[in-house]
Amino acid sequence: MHRTVGKWVSFAFLIVVFSVLTTAAVAQSGGAHRWMNPSLSPDERASMVVKEMTIDEKITLLHGTGMAGLSPLSPLIIHSNGGAGYVPGIPRLGIPAIQMSDAAYGVRMSGENGRYSTALPSDVAGAASWDLEAGYEYGALIGRELRAQGYNMTLGGGINLTREPRNGRTFEYLGEDPILAGKMVGAVMKGLQAQHVIGDIKHYALNDQESGRNAVNVNIDKRSARESDLLAFEIGLEESDAAAVMCSYNRVNGDYSCENKYLLNEVLKKDWKFKGFVLSDWGGVHSAIKASAAGLDHEEPGWIFYGDDLKKDVESGRVPKSELDDHVHRILRAMFATGVVDDPPIKGVPDVMGGLEIAQKLSEQSIVLLKNEQALLPLDASKLHSIAIIGPHADVGMISGGGSAQVDPPGGNVIMPPGRGQTKWQDKVWFPTSPLKSVQAKAPAANVQFNSGADPASAAALAKSADVAIIFAYQWESEGMDLDSLSLPEHQDELIAQVAAANPRTIVVLENGGPVTMPWVDQANAIVEAWFAGSRGAEAVANILFGEVNPSGKLPLTFPKSEADLPHPSLVKPGPESIPDESRPEPWRQIAAGLAPFQVTYNEGVKVGYKWYDAENKPVLFPFGFGLSYTTYSYSNLKVTPGSRPQVTFTVTNSGSHAGAEVAEVYVSLPTAAQEPPKRLVGFSKVKLKAGESKEVSVEVDPKYLSIFNVAQNGWQLIPGEYGFMVGGSSQNLPLKASIALK
Ligand code: BGC
Repeated sequence: MHRTVGKWVSFAFLIVVFSVLTTAAVAQSGGAHRWMNPSLSPDERASMVVKEMTIDEKITLLHGTGMAGLSPLSPLIIHSNGGAGYVPGIPRLGIPAIQMSDAAYGVRMSGENGRYSTALPSDVAGAASWDLEAGYEYGALIGRELRAQGYNMTLGGGINLTREPRNGRTFEYLGEDPILAGKMVGAVMKGLQAQHVIGDIKHYALNDQESGRNAVNVNIDKRSARESDLLAFEIGLEESDAAAVMCSYNRVNGDYSCENKYLLNEVLKKDWKFKGFVLSDWGGVHSAIKASAAGLDHEEPGWIFYGDDLKKDVESGRVPKSELDDHVHRILRAMFATGVVDDPPIKGVPDVMGGLEIAQKLSEQSIVLLKNEQALLPLDASKLHSIAIIGPHADVGMISGGGSAQVDPPGGNVIMPPGRGQTKWQDKVWFPTSPLKSVQAKAPAANVQFNSGADPASAAALAKSADVAIIFAYQWESEGMDLDSLSLPEHQDELIAQVAAANPRTIVVLENGGPVTMPWVDQANAIVEAWFAGSRGAEAVANILFGEVNPSGKLPLTFPKSEADLPHPSLVKPGPESIPDESRPEPWRQIAAGLAPFQVTYNEGVKVGYKWYDAENKPVLFPFGFGLSYTTYSYSNLKVTPGSRPQVTFTVTNSGSHAGAEVAEVYVSLPTAAQEPPKRLVGFSKVKLKAGESKEVSVEVDPKYLSIFNVAQNGWQLIPGEYGFMVGGSSQNLPLKASIALK
C-alpha cells in the first residue's frame, strides 16, 4: 500500500513538475498566446498584445536601459547582450527583449564582448559596387553575425547623402545620389531582415555634418529636401520595409529631428506609410509631449523623457492614450513582421572563413580603378624583378573607419601590441591585412621591399630602384569629427609627388572614406580607390593589381578638384555654446536640455554632388559614376519606350579582351519647366560580360524618379515635356541619347 501510495505520490509529483516546466516554457516562448499564431498579420498580432499590456509594460518598450556615460542606467542592463541598446521584453506576454547593436560594416564591439565579427568593406565601398545582389549579401552577412552574437536588431543602415564631403561619417553612408543610396540600403536591409533581425535606416534626416551635430539647425526648402536626402530614405523604405528609422541629432528647419512633426508624422508615417517605429539617435531626445506628438516612438539609450515623464503625461491626458498605444503597436509590429518573436536569435559560431571570403569578394567588387596610364595595370608578375611597397603601415595592415561603426579587427589593431582585440573611441584601427604580404604572394620571385614613407626622400630612392612602386595612402574618418580638408594627411601628397617623380610607374592605392584631392594626379600612372577595405582588403587589392579580378566599381560620389569648388567651401563650425561642456558632470543633460543652435543653410538645395558640378559647370577630378576596367565597353541600340514606367533598353558590348562587369548608368534631363539640374541618375544595372560578349539591358524607370516634388500639392509631379535619356558608363560619358515626350 505504502508502495502504491508512494508511486502515486511520485507520479503526481512528476505531473506537477512537468506542468510547471511546460507552463514556464510556454510563458517563455509565449506559445499559449493567441498572438503567437504566425498566420495572423503583424498588425493583428501587435494589436492583441497592446490590449493586454499595463501602462508600465508599455513604457518599458518605449525606451532603452542606459549606456555608460550617456544617460542613467537601469539595473536591467545586466541582461543586455553588450550592444548599444537593450530593451527588456514582456516575458509574461511572450515578447522577447530587443538587443540592438551598431552594425554598419560588421557587428560592433565584438572585441569588448569577446566575440568575432567580419569587417566588410565600408558602406560607401558597398555603394561603389553598384550591385544590388552584393548589397543583399552585405546585409545578410551582418544579419547572420548579429544573430550568432545574440542580437535581433541592427543600428546600421546609414544613408545620409554626401552633401558635405568633409563629413567624418562619409564612409558609413552610401554616396551622393538618392536613387543609388536608396536602392542600395534597400538591398542591404532586405538581406539583413531575411535573417530575422530588425533593420534600421538612419540618421533621419539631413545629419550631413558631424561638427555641432547636437545643436546645428539645418535650413533647407521642402522641395529640395524631398528630392534629395529624404528621397534616399523614401526609396530605402519602399525597397525593403526596414522596420525602424533612427531620427538624427540635428535640428531641421527649426525643430530637432526627433521632435519634428514634418519629418516624422507628416512625411515618414503619413506620406510614406511607414509602419515601423522611430527610435532616437543616442541622446537625441529633448521632450516627451512634443516628441511623442511629432511621432517619436522610442527613446535611446535611456529614459530622460520616455520613462516617468511620459507616463505622467499619459496619465494626465497631456499625451493621448491612443498616441502611446500607437508607439507600442509600431514596436511590436516591427518585432512580429521581422520574425524576431517567432525565430529568436540563437548564439552560435559564426562562419568565420565564409565571412572572410565574402568580405574579400565584396571588396573586389567595390574597388574603383581611377587612372591607368600606359596600361600600367594589371601587373605581370613574371616581368617584375623588384617592387617597392610604400606608405604608413603598408607592411602590416589597412586602416578602417571609426566611431560607432567601428568593427574590432579579429587579431587586434595591427599597430598596437598583440592581444589588443578591443578598440577605444576614435582609435585609428589598422586591420591585419598586409599589402606587403599580399603583393609578395602574387609575385613570389620579385624582390618586394617596404618603406613607410615617413622620409619621402628615402621612399623615392627605393621607388627609383624598383620596377614599380605601390603607395598605400590613407585618410582616416570617424564619427564625431569632420575632416579639415579633403587633402591626404601627414604629408602624403608630398610623399606621392616625390615617389611618382622618381618612378612614373607608380600606383597609388587609396584607403579612405570619401573624396580626396590629388595635387599629384598627373604624376602617378595608376590610381586605385580601395576605400576602407575590410578584413581582407589587401588580398582584394592584390587581386585587382595583378589582374586576377577585373575592377568593376564606380564612384558613388564625385571627387572635386578642390574644396573651393564645393557648394560650401568652408564647413560651418559650432561656437562653444553649441558644444556640451565636457568638464561639467553628465554632459548629456546639456544636450537633452538643448544646446544653442547655429545655422547651416543648404542653399544649394537639390544640387548635391554631380548635380552641383553639372549645374555650376565646374570641372571635377573624377566624376560620379566613373571607374575604369581592364577591358573596354561600348554601348548601342538605345530605345526608350514611354508608358507609366518607361523602359530603357540598350546593348552593352565588352569590346576588349578581359571578362568583366560594367555598371551601365541611365540619366535623364527633365524638361526646362521642371527647373532641375542638368541631369539625374534614374537607373543602373551591373552587367557581367565575357570578352567580346554583348547583352541587351533593360532598365525600368519609376515615374517618381522622373518627377519633381510639388510642395503645394504635397506630392510628386511629372512635368509634361521632353525627357532626355542618356546612357553610358559614367555621369560624364553618356554616348547614347534619346528624347521622349512624357505627360
Ligand atoms: C550614433 C549612431 C549610433 C548610436 C549608438 C550615436 O552616437 O550617431 O549612429 O547608432 O550612437 O551607438
